[in-house]
Amino acid sequence: MKIVHVADLHMEFSMCDLVGNKETVLVIAGDTYAVKKYGGILQTWLKDHCKRFKALVWVDGNHEFYKRPMCRVQNIMQQYNDEIENFHYLNDSEVWIEGQHFLGGTLWTNFNKGNPIARNAAMYGMNDYKSIKILHGDIAGRLRTGDVIELFESTYYFIQKHVTPESIVVTHHAPSYKSGNPSFVDDELQHCYYSDLEKEILEWQPKAWIHGHLHHNTSYRIGKTQVAAYSRGYNRHGTNNMVKELSI
Ligand SMILES: [Fe+2]
Ligand SMILES: [Fe+2]
Repeated sequence: MKIVHVADLHMEFSMCDLVGNKETVLVIAGDTYAVKKYGGILQTWLKDHCKRFKALVWVDGNHEFYKRPMCRVQNIMQQYNDEIENFHYLNDSEVWIEGQHFLGGTLWTNFNKGNPIARNAAMYGMNDYKSIKILHGDIAGRLRTGDVIELFESTYYFIQKHVTPESIVVTHHAPSYKSGNPSFVDDELQHCYYSDLEKEILEWQPKAWIHGHLHHNTSYRIGKTQVAAYSRGYNRHGTNNMVKELSI
């Protein structure tokens, strides 16, 4: 079984087409499309691509939630999961495909372990906090950094509980600063893109950790774990068949 991955297709700007075959699992690590409504363009695209691949494994990015409240988007994606046999929506959940364990979710960030400077920079510097709505009780309001920390912890504890050395973890946000462009370490918004989980990775040692979000292609090891990201980014001219084979 071959595994290919891609992230940040950002098809809200321009659609693209991925070529595959029935021996290959496609992993999509978030920011694929701003999910507007059930039964729209995305559903057609997913059904079409699920016919081309053995299976399609999906996590939401942050941009999935720009057009609808988070819970609405998650419900839509779960419906696709229930209706399309080989479509697997990972939302702090797991799936086995021919014995290979995949698990994950968006992950978000812990803002450098809750650092108030990082949280403040995010609130004023990231569009997520203007464009994403989440339920606070019964009322949908703007996303807050406290919400993001709770979302991070939900994915983190799911991974911690279920990961094995044979697992492939899929998240949108990165698990290490090493995934960023080297110049990024001076950016005050850097903690919106990754959390430092190197200690955990060395302890858990999953086979691989696939992510996106940084729009920066990377492939490196933390202990025995292959960390990889391959992104299309904000390409408004259309780029077809952007996938990278996972080397493990
Ligand atoms: Fe992105
Ligand atoms: Fe993102």
